Amino acid sequence: MSRTFSSLVLTLGLLGAVAAQASGNAAKGEEKAKAVCAACHGAHGESAGPDFPKLAGQPADYLEHALKHYKGGVRRKNAIMMGMAAGLSEQDMADLAAYFSSQEAGLYTKY
Ligand code: HEC
Repeated sequence: MSRTFSSLVLTLGLLGAVAAQASGNAAKGEEKAKAVCAACHGAHGESAGPDFPKLAGQPADYLEHALKHYKGGVRRKNAIMMGMAAGLSEQDMADLAAYFSSQEAGLYTKY
């Protein structure tokens, strides 16, 4: 395979990877997060206590998948989060994921 062809394949692959990501808007996600999610996950996803996972700095695609799986109710089941995800649109999930992912992940949390 020639180098040019390899880089073309790589470039197309990367473009595909970018296109496959839902385009989440972190600013919109922040508004939604502060209204609903902050009570348990903290305003910046730092978590309000040991019972709630930290969302800050986790990869956006991971967070988005988790929300979709809660909403689907098959691959991930949790009574609280299934209720939370039920009312979220795909865009909401992408925005929330973009917001929490953009927050700094601390190694330690002081509750
Ligand atoms: C009433 C408390 C509560 C609220 C409000 C809440 N969550 Fe959660 N969330 C939880 C708990 C508890 C878990 C752990 C569930 C489990 O074990 O799967 C969780 C898990 C998650 C996870 C999976 C994290 C991981 O590391 O796998 C995501 C993503 C998430 N929540 C996003 C949100 C978003 C976005 C909102 C706002 C729309 C929200 N949560 C609102 C309690 C809450």
